[in-house]
Amino acid sequence: MKANIVLLPGDGVGPEIVAEAVKVLKAVVTRFGHDFEMTEHPVGGVAHDLCGDCLPDATLAACKAADAVLLGAVGGPKWDALPPEKRPERRALLTLRSELGLFANLRPAKVWDALKGASPLKDEIVARGIDILIVRELTGGAYFGEKGRSADRTSAYDVTPYSAHEIERVARIAFDAARRRHGRAVAPRPPKVTSVDKANVLETSRLWRETVTALHAAEYADVELEHMYVDNAAMQLVRDPARFDVILTENMFGDILSDEASQITGSIGMLPSASLGAAKGGLYEPIHGSAPDIAGKGIANPLATILSAALMLRHAFGLAAEADAVEQAVSDVLASGVRTADIASPSGASSAVSTSEMGDAIQSALSGF
Ligand code: IPM
Ligand code: MG
Repeated sequence: MKANIVLLPGDGVGPEIVAEAVKVLKAVVTRFGHDFEMTEHPVGGVAHDLCGDCLPDATLAACKAADAVLLGAVGGPKWDALPPEKRPERRALLTLRSELGLFANLRPAKVWDALKGASPLKDEIVARGIDILIVRELTGGAYFGEKGRSADRTSAYDVTPYSAHEIERVARIAFDAARRRHGRAVAPRPPKVTSVDKANVLETSRLWRETVTALHAAEYADVELEHMYVDNAAMQLVRDPARFDVILTENMFGDILSDEASQITGSIGMLPSASLGAAKGGLYEPIHGSAPDIAGKGIANPLATILSAALMLRHAFGLAAEADAVEQAVSDVLASGVRTADIASPSGASSAVSTSEMGDAIQSALSGF
């Protein structure tokens, strides 16, 4: 198939990891005979340095016209002093999410067989299996609500608005995903959605719970639904992660819980994400940030970005066999013992491979060498 992919390498380790995902996409093109046109555009701090805007008009226009967008990371200490609305995180990432209408963020967190030892959890907890899909609402809540300061700047507020419409459309994505995952979750069980809120305190959470419950009763009675307070969910993620299948939650809770989920799987350097909207396409990015402390050293783990490219193949283009092949290549390479520093055991850290060596290994595995 023909597809037009926009690459947004961005800041910090972004360019290094996106380069490896491009290698892998080229291997997919060769092996499966597709025609992917990939064009790079500036975003984040580098774009600010180039033209005074973290999200130049031309970049946004290219993303809107693309079949899919692959993003590395944005932000870094160099741009921390910019006014809040001009910073890479707000201006580039949040504007992209809202302008492209990407209301659902899928963050799969699983323990790869070869990396069981990298989880900080006890062996018997990991042995029960960790294979969770976090569905995070991405264009609502406190991130996008009205914010401000009092005239004397000694008090501040961030409003957390949610409408039933916003809740229902992301809940639908979670229920559909649970149905699709049925059969591949760790333990044999019916598909399950855990909806996470703070309904004992927040009004938006009460609306969240009512809306999810009503949609479930009307259309998804075959899926098991449980509701859980966010503080309890944070605890259960480390106490008994095997109890989770799909976690559905609002923007800020999802941000926090997905970092926690990534750590129990071993490394945040392994977690991909897909941001989807009503239109086809979407934006694909690792959940980790720009990691300025290791940028330019060639040691960042490119697997989260490579796995994000796999999600792009599956969700944007419907290329399931190709996505499976990339994920299988990652699994095979990990099984053969190849490790970047973040996932190496303390004793093997000195023999860890570089970012580009990991990309090469995945590319070779895909090409069948
Ligand atoms: C993420 C990041 C972003 C978020 C930041 C960089 C704005 O942490 O994608 O999880 O909070 O959404
Ligand atoms: Mg985050």
